[in-house]
Amino acid sequence: MTRLSTAAWLAPLALTLSLVGCAEDNLGQWGLFADPASQTPNEGVVPYELISPLFSDYAAKHRFIQLPEGGQITYTDEGDWVYPLGTVIAKTFSYPRDLRDPSLGERLIETRLLVLDDFGEWHPYVYLWNDDQTDAVRARAGARVDVSWIHTDGAERTLEYRVPNEVQCANCHGGAAAVTPIGPRTEQMDRDYDYGAGPENQIDHLASLGWFANDVPAARPRFEDPDGAGDLDARARSYLDANCAHCHSETGAAAQSGLWLGADIEDPAVLGVCKRPVAAGRGAGGHRFDIVPGDPDASVMVFRMESEEAGIKMPELPSQLSHAEGVALIRAWIAAMEPTGCD
Ligand code: HEC
Ligand code: HEC
Repeated sequence: MTRLSTAAWLAPLALTLSLVGCAEDNLGQWGLFADPASQTPNEGVVPYELISPLFSDYAAKHRFIQLPEGGQITYTDEGDWVYPLGTVIAKTFSYPRDLRDPSLGERLIETRLLVLDDFGEWHPYVYLWNDDQTDAVRARAGARVDVSWIHTDGAERTLEYRVPNEVQCANCHGGAAAVTPIGPRTEQMDRDYDYGAGPENQIDHLASLGWFANDVPAARPRFEDPDGAGDLDARARSYLDANCAHCHSETGAAAQSGLWLGADIEDPAVLGVCKRPVAAGRGAGGHRFDIVPGDPDASVMVFRMESEEAGIKMPELPSQLSHAEGVALIRAWIAAMEPTGCD
C-alpha cells in the first residue's frame, strides 16, 4: 500500500523529468522559432526589448517570452513579475556585420534560456549556434568564439567572445539566491516595440493578448532611455540598474561591497558618493572614493568602468570590453554633481 502511493507520487515527477530531458540537447527542440536564422518566433512566442539593456561587448540581442498554454503573468509595478510554471524566456546574442547598418545581416552566436519548471525553479540553458545558423547545440561548459564586426567608427573589430558556462549564470541571475530573470519587469518593459503593425507599447500588447492575470494600471513606473535625451540623472540611474545592480544589490554577488546601484537606492553613500571602496589600491587605481562629486577622473567607478583588465574591470567577466557610451554617460553624471568634496 505504501509502495503504491509512493509510486503514484513519483509518476508525475518522472514524466516531468523526461519531458525536460528530451528538449535539452538542441535549441530547435524547444520549438521557439519558425525561422531560426532570422530569429522569427513561432506563434505564441513574443519578442521584447528593454529600455535599458545590459551591454555585452557590442553584441546585439533578440529576446522572447513563451508562456505555457493558458498561463498568465502576475503584474507588479515594482519588483519581479510572477511567471506561470512552464514559462520560457530566451535571449539570443548575435554580432551584426556592421553596427552602423543592421540590415547588412548578423551572425547568431549563442542563445540563453531561463525555464521555469513545475516546481517553481528557474533553470538556465545555453546553446551555441552552428555555422549554417540552422540550430544551436547545448554548451553547458560555455565556449569561446572568434567574432568580428564593423564598429560605429567604420573600423573592423575582433574579439574572442566568451559564452558563459551554465554555472556562471547564477553570478548575475540571483547571486546568493535562486536563479531568477532580471530584465522583463515593468520599468524595463514599458516601451514600444514593432510587432509588425507599427510601434505598440509592449505591456499594453501583452495585456491585449490576455497575458496578465491581474489589472495593469495605465500609469506605470518607467526607466529613462540611457541613450535618449531625457533627464541625465534618470538616464544614469537606469544604466547603472541594468548593468550593475544584478550584482550590486542586497542579494547580488557584490552585496558585500556595500555599493548598491539599483534604481530604488536613495542614499547617495550607498550609490558610491564619497564612499571608500572595500578593496583599495590597484583595483581602485589609487583613487579614494567610488564617486567624487564633480570629478569623474578621481572616481573609482569611472576608473573601473574604463578598465579592461581582469580583476579591475567593471562589470566583471564574461564581458571584456569597456562600454565607451556607458562610461561617457557616467562621466557626465558625476561631472554634473555639485563638487562638495569628500573630506
Ligand atoms: C554578467 C552577468 C550575467 C551573466 C553571467 C548571465 N546573465 Fe543572463 N542576463 C543578465 C542581465 C543583466 C539580463 C537582463 C538585461 C538584458 O536582457 O539585456 C539578462 C537576461 C537574460 C535572459 C532574458 C531574461 C532575463 O532574465 O532578463 C536570459 C534568458 C538569460 N539572461 C539567461 C542567462 C543564462 C542561461 C546565463 C548563463 C549561461 C546567463 N544569462 C548569464 C546578466 C547576466
Ligand atoms: C558580475 C557581477 C558584477 C557586475 C555586473 C558589476 N560588478 Fe562591480 N563589483 C563586483 C564585485 C564582486 C565587487 C567587489 C570586489 C571588487 O572590488 O572587485 C565589485 C566592486 C565594485 C566597485 C568597488 C566598490 C566598493 O565600494 O568597494 C565599484 C566602484 C564597482 N564594482 C562598480 C561597478 C559598476 C559601475 C558596475 C556596472 C557598470 C558594476 N560594478 C557591475 C561585481 C560586479
